[in-house]
Amino acid sequence: MAERAVTMEKLVALCKTRGIIFPGSEIYGGMGNTWDYGPVGVEIKNNLKRAWWKRFVQESDNSFGVDAAILMNSRVWDASGHTTSFTDPKMDCKECKSRHRADNLIEAHSKGKVNPDAMTNEEMEAYIAEHRVCCPICGKFNWTNIRTFNLMFETSRGVTDENQNKIYLRPETAQGEFVNFLNVQRTTRAKVPFGIAQIGKAFRNEITPGNFIFRTIEFEQMEHQWFCKAGTDSEFYAEFKKKAWDFLVSLGFSEERLRFKDHDKLAHYAKEACDIQYLFPMGWSELNGIHNRTDYDLSRHQEFSGKSLAYVDPVSGERYIPYVIEYSIGADRLMLAALSEAYDEETLENGEIRNVMRFHPAIAAYKAAVLPLQKNLAPQARELSAKLAKRFPVSYDEAGSIGKRYRRQDEIGTPFCLTVDFQTVEDGTVTVRDRDTMAQIRLSADEAIAYIEEKIRFD
Ligand code: GAP
Repeated sequence: MAERAVTMEKLVALCKTRGIIFPGSEIYGGMGNTWDYGPVGVEIKNNLKRAWWKRFVQESDNSFGVDAAILMNSRVWDASGHTTSFTDPKMDCKECKSRHRADNLIEAHSKGKVNPDAMTNEEMEAYIAEHRVCCPICGKFNWTNIRTFNLMFETSRGVTDENQNKIYLRPETAQGEFVNFLNVQRTTRAKVPFGIAQIGKAFRNEITPGNFIFRTIEFEQMEHQWFCKAGTDSEFYAEFKKKAWDFLVSLGFSEERLRFKDHDKLAHYAKEACDIQYLFPMGWSELNGIHNRTDYDLSRHQEFSGKSLAYVDPVSGERYIPYVIEYSIGADRLMLAALSEAYDEETLENGEIRNVMRFHPAIAAYKAAVLPLQKNLAPQARELSAKLAKRFPVSYDEAGSIGKRYRRQDEIGTPFCLTVDFQTVEDGTVTVRDRDTMAQIRLSADEAIAYIEEKIRFD
């Protein structure tokens, strides 16, 4: 595999200088592991979400979307098991008081050779003692025992103290799909198998967040639950593995940097589970998960809510609780993967390095930039920009030399630059420069719109 130019430091710096992603609450000194999307970043992330929705809802003849509340009845989290078992194994360094995840310490110490997912807390403590795994902050070896730490953020509702009720910020969007199973089925008259999808915020009090937007305490998930009959579940599990893989490839990801990884330790409800990992700048890590969750979720919600969640087959009259195949991907994690995949440094003939983000045109923030060759061509350029903006997002730039303006657009991945020059005034044509090849062609405004619209399709 060819050596890649991308590093996490370069991505963070580029994102900050080009308005893609800023550190959260920056003027107050920041707030650990929160990030704000800037003008360019919000467009890219929205495009990723749109592409996902198109593929998994719009193009599926039996999948339906919901947008459920972030704050849910606390019983939801009792039923799902999150109040009791959504925990991380934490260890505190008694010397410098820093907090760490035992599994992360082992993974880092063994350079990924030991898989802590398959270990009990006692086994992790034994490994850390035997290998004298020291604190990565102060270098000392003086740990507390492992304590489990619930990752859900708590809050409370009610206006008076006496009336307070503990509630949680949802740690996953999936439960919003499960609790609406019957609502969606009844209102759409969907027959099993069918899917429910959702894109929304989730919150986790991660002990060791990090690696830019890879693991944050607030993030967006894109989740799709496929409800099917027991016995057909493994077939659909295989189908969703393929769909998830194909989605990434159609976004332009190289298959060399993607791989499946089966879970070594299955959650108690799961029959089969795997991740698709991506080769991020810091190494191979989970990009998305595909899980065969059996009938666990609906059965638990039926038990805890006291409401029947059985599906009645309209032909055979058979009543059963469907199995669920879950496909879940973080929008921010996909964003990080897309940024890493797009980043390129190209050495030009004159020896200069050109930084270029080679996004799929459907993902790029702006589909075109309109650049007047000289400032006195601004009226014509503004007119063209307004015409294009009715069809797709456009950037307008008249500051600096044309070469510098091309470079700025390359750095945010704008696939086409339209330059308005003196010939434009005469015959209405503009030059259209291709981001990847830097080749230029001359087209009328209408031809340029048709040309760009064809290239930015996500099929
Ligand atoms: N409903 C299943 C579920 O939530 P998960 O593996 O915990 O499964 C699914 O999360 C996806 O959500 C992950 O594959 C990842 O893309 C994203 N994700 C999870 N935790 C995250 C975090 N702290 N920051 C950013 N993305 C996260």
